[in-house]
Amino acid sequence: MWWQDAVVYQIYPRSFQDSDGDGVGDLRGITQRLDHLAYLGVDALWLSPIYPSPLADFGYDVSDYTGIDPQFGTMGDFDELVAAAHERGLRVLLDLVPCHTSIEHPWFREHPDRYIWSPVDGPPNNWVSAFGGPGVESRRGERPLVPALVLSRAAGPRTGATRKSSRRCRTSSASGSGRGVDGFRLDAIDRLVKDEQLRDDPPASRPFPLPLDPEAARLEMRYSGNRPEAIEALRALREAAGDALLVGELYRPVGEYERWLEVLDLVFAFEFLFSPWDAERLRAAIEPAAELRRAAWVMSNHDFDRLATRVGPENLRAAAVLLLTLPGTAFVYQGDELGLANGPGHEPPFDRAGRDRLRHPMQWDAHGGFTSGTPWLPLVDPEARNVADERADPGSLLNLYRSLIELRRELGAGFRLLDAEPGVVAFERDRHTVAVNTTAEPRPAPEGEPVLATHEGEGLPPHAALIVRN
Ligand code: BGC
Ligand code: MG
Repeated sequence: MWWQDAVVYQIYPRSFQDSDGDGVGDLRGITQRLDHLAYLGVDALWLSPIYPSPLADFGYDVSDYTGIDPQFGTMGDFDELVAAAHERGLRVLLDLVPCHTSIEHPWFREHPDRYIWSPVDGPPNNWVSAFGGPGVESRRGERPLVPALVLSRAAGPRTGATRKSSRRCRTSSASGSGRGVDGFRLDAIDRLVKDEQLRDDPPASRPFPLPLDPEAARLEMRYSGNRPEAIEALRALREAAGDALLVGELYRPVGEYERWLEVLDLVFAFEFLFSPWDAERLRAAIEPAAELRRAAWVMSNHDFDRLATRVGPENLRAAAVLLLTLPGTAFVYQGDELGLANGPGHEPPFDRAGRDRLRHPMQWDAHGGFTSGTPWLPLVDPEARNVADERADPGSLLNLYRSLIELRRELGAGFRLLDAEPGVVAFERDRHTVAVNTTAEPRPAPEGEPVLATHEGEGLPPHAALIVRN
């Protein structure tokens, strides 16, 4: 399978490249910048949603699953982007959002029966939405921002709607209507099916390993989502998608991934994403995810703090080594290869959940290079870090990403975590040993011929990572 050791680059379309001066990134802009992905050597790109949307949740509130939002361009622009990506050997993943729609989706008016409504005036149960607040809306209540779908009732039996849209987007069919998409990231997939009887979620009996809204953390998601029926429903999507890559955004403990991997190819390793930069904690997150062989390594995305902010700039080089030498598929969020940190966001906020600061535009040169107009969010620090300067500097973080992506092709299939010095994560990949020093003190280097080092100096300097060959 092409994706098994692939590096997937996440593009946040509003913030990658603007081609028409309106300050918002667009599809033509992405096509113009594909050389950056080719330079890095990644295998695929994932586009966060590009469908028509009133932007109550910045594109994750979809009002038409089969269209392109005019701000992003046209279907012709999309076809050109896919063709240009394929020409460079880059696969294309779309974001599929099957658990809720925008209130502006025609179904919301024409088929209210396809949504979950409270039978009483007010919330019918204790469900908590991902952003806090009640999880089910009363028909007479306020209008929900992104109403949840009852999947079994949406456009025919089982997952009719999403099945059709995934089929339409996929490989060219005889009719020529396919669009050549190579896979999908499945949004919030643990919420695909909810209990028909709207039963209360029970109180949580143990702490949840991932950050949650405090209200949600008090409950165990047993009825509001995480249903075994979801896996059955996904079989239909699996069938329609054929061999297209399906990667699930499953916000659950890694111990639960296995059953979802019956129908999905990959699931994001969220415990790894949230692990503090501490060797013990990292090992604890890596071990079970690596055992599955199909966890997608990821350290940041458009929802959570940027990598530079989370691990600190001093650890960015070592974090790049870790992310790109673990066995299996890795996801890189645009800008992380430059060391971009969280930005100031916007006042008043655009995003209801405070995520503007993770979504500032790409910095292509010292002036920005993102748009000829006024960017929808300001650029953070283009003079300090940008693609042009980092390309020219052999010692830059960008060029470290590039070297690692090249080197990872030489790492074998094997993987074994090693007992290491305190504060060091070390593992073998067949003939290579990787050692990552998470501390501010020097540590001894692993034995072998150095192949790649993040820092100069003897041993394993503070915050450094080293790859040796045995
Ligand atoms: C997406 C978020 C979105 C949420 C609701 C996710 O997990 O990544 O950006 O707000 O789903 O669709
Ligand atoms: Mg634009």
